[in-house]
Amino acid sequence: MEDMLEDTVLVNLRINGKLHELEIPAHKSLLDLLRDDLNLTGTHMGCMTGHCGACTVSIDGRVAKSCITLAATLGRAKITTIEGLTEDDGTLSPIQQAFWDEAGFQCAFCAPGMLMCTAELLEDNSDPSDEEIETALAGNLCRCTGYQSIRRAVKAAADKKNKSTREATE
Ligand code: FES
Ligand code: FES
Repeated sequence: MEDMLEDTVLVNLRINGKLHELEIPAHKSLLDLLRDDLNLTGTHMGCMTGHCGACTVSIDGRVAKSCITLAATLGRAKITTIEGLTEDDGTLSPIQQAFWDEAGFQCAFCAPGMLMCTAELLEDNSDPSDEEIETALAGNLCRCTGYQSIRRAVKAAADKKNKSTREATE
């Protein structure tokens, strides 16, 4: 019988601030690594083809779909997942709190992608227009909300983030 051993690769990934050295199959997706090896199940498994956005994470400061990202290609990347948005003491970040306050989700299946894309948007733009929000979230599908409450949550998140930045500098 043919030898079924598969190639493995050593990766050193900083995930939510913690370094993980892992030997993984060369074909393993980042999504499988997060969920199966590290139990970071806040990143959701949806279409597995790069279309729904539920698996979105941040890689070196830019959002990416983890279902179509091979973990072995990431070298020493810094990765943030939805769990990593929470403050160190467990408090929800202003973005998470805004989505909660504004009912920016119903079943929450899309929430990881919506929140990670909102976090990236607000890094670059402290007062996004409706059009800019739609562009930033375009790769994320929501089957429940009709998107209105999500847009409202993003605007509330911008307000909260701006307020906490102002308070920190006063
Ligand atoms: S699960 Fe990755 S885009 Fe849908
Ligand atoms: S809240 Fe259900 S998919 Fe968006």
